[in-house]
Amino acid sequence: MTANNLSGPRSVRLRGGATIPQLGFGTFQIPPEETAQAATKALELGYRHIDTAAGYDNEAQVGEALKALGSDRDDVFVTTKLRNGEQGYDSALAAFEASRRRLQVDVVDLYLIHWPVPRKEKYVETWRAFAKLLDEGAVRAIGVSNFLPEHLGRLIDETGVVPAVNQVEVHPGFSQPTTLESCVAHGVTVEAYSPLGQGADLKNPVVTKIAADLGVTPAQVILQWHLNKGRVVIPKSTHAERMRENLDVFDFSLHQSQLDALDGLHDDGNRIGNDPTTAEFTQMH
Ligand code: A2P
Repeated sequence: MTANNLSGPRSVRLRGGATIPQLGFGTFQIPPEETAQAATKALELGYRHIDTAAGYDNEAQVGEALKALGSDRDDVFVTTKLRNGEQGYDSALAAFEASRRRLQVDVVDLYLIHWPVPRKEKYVETWRAFAKLLDEGAVRAIGVSNFLPEHLGRLIDETGVVPAVNQVEVHPGFSQPTTLESCVAHGVTVEAYSPLGQGADLKNPVVTKIAADLGVTPAQVILQWHLNKGRVVIPKSTHAERMRENLDVFDFSLHQSQLDALDGLHDDGNRIGNDPTTAEFTQMH
C-alpha cells in the first residue's frame, strides 16, 4: 500500500471555526422506533457525530440516545435540518426551536437547509434566519443540503454568507463532480450522504476488486475514498458489526490508481435520491 492519505484526518475544520468529526453516523431511513437503539449503539462504538433531520421524524429518538450519554453528550457533534415546509424567516426560527427541544440540546452543532426547493423562492430569506442563529450562538455552524451550483451561487451572492457545508448525495456511482467543484470553489465543505449508494455501490466490481486486493471490505474502500477526498461522510447502518466496520477505516490507504478508478465510476444517471431542482415534498407532518 502506498501512503496516499494514511490515517486520513479524523476531524475537519469548517468555515467559521467549528470542528466536525469527518466520519459520522447517518440516520436517514432509520425508522423512529429503531433510532434510539441504533444511535445508542453507534455512540457506544465510538461515533461522535450524528446526523438527523426534522424530516426524518427521528430527532427526538436521537435526543434520547444523546441524553443517555450524560455529560459526554457535549462531545458529540449533532447535525439537523430544516423541513422544506418550514422555509421562510420566522418559520425557520420557530422550527429550529422545535428541533432543539426534540434533540434536548442547548446548541446545535450544524443546522442545514434540507433542500433548496427553488420553485418556492424561500431559501434566501431562510438563510438570513440561519445567519441570525449563528450570530446568536444557537448553532456552531450553518449549511445547506442538496444545493446545486446555481443555488449555492445565488445564496452567497445575495447574502454574503457562505455555508460551512453542502450535504449532497455522493457515492462512487454518483460523485457529481460539477456540484462538488462548486463547493470547493466557494470553500464549502462537502458532506457525502448515501455514501455507500444506500448499499448498491458495495457490489460494484471495481469496488469489490479493490477490497479484495487490500484485504478490507467494500464499505471500507468506499469510505476511505470519501475521506481521502476530504469529504465528511455519514454512513448509515442499523447493524452493530457494520457500524464498527464503517468506523474502522483510518489505518489503510488507497493507491492513486484505485482512487482514480473509483472517481471514474460517476454517471449522471446513477442518482438514487431526489433531484434538487424539483424535490419539494413538504415534510410538514
Ligand atoms: P443496514 O442498515 O441494514 O446495515 P448509505 O449509508 O449509503 O445510505 O448506505 C446504507 C445502506 O448500506 C443500508 O442498507 C445499510 O444496511 C448498508 N450498509 C451500511 N454499512 C454496511 C456495511 N459495512 N456492509 C454492508 N452493508 C452496509
